[in-house]
Amino acid sequence: MKFGYFDDAHREYVITRPDTPLPWINYLGCEAYFGLISNTAGGYSFYKDARLRRLTRYRYNNAPIDMGGRYLYLRDNSAGNYWSPTWMPTRTKLDEYECRHGQGYTTITSRLGGIRSSVRYFVPLGESLEIWQVRLTNENASDADLSLFSAIEFCLWDANDDATNFQRNYSIGQVEVVDDVIYHKTEYRERRDHFAYFACSEPLAGFDTKREEFLGPYRGWNEPVVVETGQSCNSLAHGWQPIGSHHVKVLLKAGEQKQIIFILGYQENPGDDKFDPPGSQIINKKSAKKSLEKYLRTANADQAFEDLREYWTMLLGKLKVSTPDQHTDRMVNIWNAYQCMVTFNMSRSASYFESGIGRGMGFRDSNQDLLGFVHMIPERARERILDLTATQLKNGGAFHQYQPLTKRGNNDVGSGFNDDPAWLVLAVAAYIKESGDWSILDEPMQYENEPGTETPLYEHLQRAIQYTLDRLGPNNLPLIGRADWNDCLNLNCFSDTPGQSFQTTTNKDGKVAESVFIAGLFVLACQEMAGIAGKKKEESGPSFVYPLSSDDYLRFAADMESTIWAAGWDGDWFRRAYDDYGHVLGSKENTEGQIFIEPQGICVMAGLGLENGNAVKALDSVGQHLATPHGIVLQQPAFSQYYLHLGEISSYPPGYKENAGIFCHTNPWIMIAEAMVGHGDRAFDYYTRINPSAREEISELHKCEPYVYAQMIAGKDAATHGEAKNSWLSGTSAWNYVAITQFILGIRPAFDGLEVKPVIPSGWDGFEATRLFRGVRYEISVKREGPGNEVNLEIDGKPIEGTVIPLPGNDTSTVKVRAVIR
Ligand code: BGC
Ligand code: NOJ
Repeated sequence: MKFGYFDDAHREYVITRPDTPLPWINYLGCEAYFGLISNTAGGYSFYKDARLRRLTRYRYNNAPIDMGGRYLYLRDNSAGNYWSPTWMPTRTKLDEYECRHGQGYTTITSRLGGIRSSVRYFVPLGESLEIWQVRLTNENASDADLSLFSAIEFCLWDANDDATNFQRNYSIGQVEVVDDVIYHKTEYRERRDHFAYFACSEPLAGFDTKREEFLGPYRGWNEPVVVETGQSCNSLAHGWQPIGSHHVKVLLKAGEQKQIIFILGYQENPGDDKFDPPGSQIINKKSAKKSLEKYLRTANADQAFEDLREYWTMLLGKLKVSTPDQHTDRMVNIWNAYQCMVTFNMSRSASYFESGIGRGMGFRDSNQDLLGFVHMIPERARERILDLTATQLKNGGAFHQYQPLTKRGNNDVGSGFNDDPAWLVLAVAAYIKESGDWSILDEPMQYENEPGTETPLYEHLQRAIQYTLDRLGPNNLPLIGRADWNDCLNLNCFSDTPGQSFQTTTNKDGKVAESVFIAGLFVLACQEMAGIAGKKKEESGPSFVYPLSSDDYLRFAADMESTIWAAGWDGDWFRRAYDDYGHVLGSKENTEGQIFIEPQGICVMAGLGLENGNAVKALDSVGQHLATPHGIVLQQPAFSQYYLHLGEISSYPPGYKENAGIFCHTNPWIMIAEAMVGHGDRAFDYYTRINPSAREEISELHKCEPYVYAQMIAGKDAATHGEAKNSWLSGTSAWNYVAITQFILGIRPAFDGLEVKPVIPSGWDGFEATRLFRGVRYEISVKREGPGNEVNLEIDGKPIEGTVIPLPGNDTSTVKVRAVIR
């Protein structure tokens, strides 16, 4: 069953009924000011950091679900009835309803009793504000006497404190209302130099900033007394819960239309120019004035919207494909690319499953997110790499997270996730391959954000590799530390105390438990380092200062490979780990957790078993033991009970999350591996199983948005097999983008040029693509002339050797690529 449809021509998903199985959300903002918005206008806004600088309140896990947002109420003053044109919060039955989610904007249209309303929400590029553009049309034959009320609830900035510290919070709320603009200034009198403003393009019939006056005692957002009576109170909040509500009277003749704009903005002032007049306690509002006046004008708001559309046309234009499969096309051309930008911006901080309080930017997460984003804006990827690198520890390790507002490592979570540093190598390699910008390696970068500790970024990468070499266990495999990619495999934790964090509790000395996954990842990282080191040497000639060569890294990789074959191969698949007792995990010797997906993916991606047939063997085992129609589960058999020595993985009921759920992030590793062994049909089949667009028809089961990937789909051991959770913020997005574009369609950046090496399904006769790469437009046409995977390339009519297209001369703007597959 579907709850909407894809409108690919407009790059929108159109939701046709408000009561979707879960709120289906979208994101506003692409740079610094962000918002989450659901299909019924729920959600909240923040500046840079969802925890530390939150503008509006939202209560997670509420009933009814998704309460709190950017709300509007329409009141028919003649009849006295009222409703929400975005359905929530009054949930009045509407005659028509439609929500269109696009890239960075959402438009919700509805009609009731002949009054049509359309609300477009977006954040203009380069601004710290959001616009709500409301268009009201009277489709009746008689005049309409309407009142329009807006409503938001201000968050007192620190979302965690806001939700917990009531003894203080109930006394600190402050607002100003000047010239019909509502200003939120809690804590501005002391250490904050920022405020929020909420403005409307029309003269007001009234306003409210006290929640209890607006709603009335013991009432909810579905029945505010102010809306019911049609009378605002002009209330000024002192403490308690400051809100913002405007009241606009709208008289519409038959057939008449009117536009009303609301703006919610965030503004900072210099610390010594906060007040106007100086010495007073009144906000200096001059800084906000320009944007305010600009965007309350329809023409400017329209222009800003067009600019946003253009921006996304440009970004999505970096890679466009036309294949025989519409699910592939719309995900690659629109939604998957868009989700990659969102994961890049948010990491795992704020979604409808991530509260915005729990986590900042993850080190491994951000490095992986970058893989799917780097082609869109390489400059921003560069900046992110520098931010991440500056939090790296001197021993090569990493803070597991950092806060986006401060860019400092998060001490609460700390470090010791032993896979973390290796991902930085992969991210830097991807950035250089995309951009050709080798200069990033010379950037002087601090460790732990400590001035005076700078070394070239290249040395950070070397230390990242060294980190693993310094931490090998009894089998010479890398020690796992707190966890590797699988945060829930906590082999040094041994926690028997409820509530203890599996992430940070470590009861063992960590000198025994090892990870085959990190071993595979290390091989991959060493191969990338070899590529980087080789080129670095070529470029710098005899003055090359770094002591390790390409060959050294290849040697590290080869040694680790031998170790994997000795201790990490189980006969039919790669093993997963050794626990603190030195017992193997992910082996036929185990009764539960015999086979895990992660090492099969990563080891084959690192090239293991491509020559001796073991890669195919491992992948066949995945097909046999782990694949389901809804995707590939993380391991089998699921853990039937809690195992002290395994940690969080066994805390989940079977089939959910890391305990044998379809943890989608790992699926593309298998797609890539299948493509690497030449199995185009299998790779594409796995791709399709979790492609959200291909799952649209089963939305009642899948439950999450059909336009973005979710972190998890319940596995075969679960009661709700096929049900997705934790949509939007997952490494699934970047890796699926990499799997389909770089390995199945085979268009992948290399250090020396663009590589074209498709491994497509046997039933495809080819596909077309355009790719912007280092300023050149590649027009790629792929034709299948035989059943295999052998690729021959013709560049501008001339055949070339191999599959990497050499970089063209400086004056070339377009390269025509013809690939024949036989
Ligand atoms: C989740 C993991 C996540 C970890 C870190 C766990 O509860 O299952 O997927 O990586 O928390 O916050
Ligand atoms: C989600 C986390 O954000 C990510 O870092 C981790 O790799 C996966 N869960 C698997 O546990």
